[in-house]
Amino acid sequence: MTTPTTNSGLEDVVVSTSEICFIDGDRGRLLYRGYDIHDLVAHSSFEETAALLWNGALPKRAELESLRKALATQRRLPPKVLTLLRGLPRKSDSMDVLRTAVSALGIYDPDAGNDSREANLRKAVRIQAQVPTLVAAWSRIRKGKAPIPPNPRLSLAGNLLYMLFGRKPSRLAEKAMDTALILHADHELNASTFSARVTVATLSDMYSGVVSGIGTLKGPLHGGANVGVMRMLLEIGDVDRAETWIKNALAQKKRIMGFGHRVYHTEDPRATHLRRLSEQLGREAGELKWFEMSRIVERVVNAEKGLHANVDFYSASTYYSMGIDPDLYTPIFVVSRVSGWTAHILEQQAHNRLIRPRAEYQGSREATYVPLDQR
Ligand code: SDX
Repeated sequence: MTTPTTNSGLEDVVVSTSEICFIDGDRGRLLYRGYDIHDLVAHSSFEETAALLWNGALPKRAELESLRKALATQRRLPPKVLTLLRGLPRKSDSMDVLRTAVSALGIYDPDAGNDSREANLRKAVRIQAQVPTLVAAWSRIRKGKAPIPPNPRLSLAGNLLYMLFGRKPSRLAEKAMDTALILHADHELNASTFSARVTVATLSDMYSGVVSGIGTLKGPLHGGANVGVMRMLLEIGDVDRAETWIKNALAQKKRIMGFGHRVYHTEDPRATHLRRLSEQLGREAGELKWFEMSRIVERVVNAEKGLHANVDFYSASTYYSMGIDPDLYTPIFVVSRVSGWTAHILEQQAHNRLIRPRAEYQGSREATYVPLDQR
């Protein structure tokens, strides 16, 4: 047997081929199915981006309209899932609720038990349609309010904001949310996507893969960082405290949420757009301090640690300026990443092999068993 090489955290280990997402970490390039993220932000919509990720090609007008209709008409939750949400403790962690409720959606899915590609494509659209409704319904149920029924006439981004706040969003807010969803949709073999692929590689089902993704994304080293960024900004409190606070934090060797990346060694191209959205929405909200504080924190962390903002850093102040509760930021990451997870699940299922790495054993090899009363 050859001597195994271990790469801590599978850093730079290539475990499969894929045609979905390309990242150049040195040049800060991100492509979905070959299309540059900057072009998709400039010209596409989240619905069109989801179709691109699932099918590998930009949809024709009729195909896009058909997808929009399929998404809009499947937004309502099965009644028993709403009952489940109402029965959960109101203080429950929003990601725990999402993980639990998506698992329940799988039980009520009309295609449950059917793992054909056609059925899994239908499931992907259904999950994409219903996760925004889950996030919005929970945000209201936990406050003792009735969920707002989805509006089939609004875009996915617009309807998410409508169900959260009970009013149609401003054009800027809808466009900003649509852009944020495009930016968060996929990112090659990040931890949660890899987790989803490992799960379905055993020939388990799509919902199990998505639930694995949710559980993995929850962690603060991954999708949970955006909440940590907002909590940091709220703790700092004011623009004139930002520089001292972040310098102290770095002096105490603290890990600053929203900075650093396993793959990017330069600016995360997604942060470029989210920085702009944070400023635009701060202006619309008449409160630029979160953006201004973020700029100071970014300057100091850059200068002192050489670390760049990642996707989570400016999404925090962007969502906060929209009035979204911080603990819903990672669930909103799920709303978007469901498209990437299901695209990768479909790709894994099309060319599957069980994913089963090895560990370099470093324990004893000569242990002798000692009877219980002689230990
Ligand atoms: C996402 O993989 C993806 O693509 C993920 C994602 C996606 O779209 O799916 O891009 C989304 O998860 C973005 C990352 C969100 N997480 C955070 O913002 C949490 C804070 N960031 C870090 O914990 C860290 O940067 C990671 C987890 C993102 C990457 O960690 P690595 O590659 O394992 O790097 P490391 O922890 O080994 O750090 C290397 C060095 C260390 O210094 P030394 O101990 O060698 O002196 O850099 C330092 C770290 O201390 N460092 C940080 C830091 N990130 C790295 N120091 C302070 N603050 C940080 N944020």
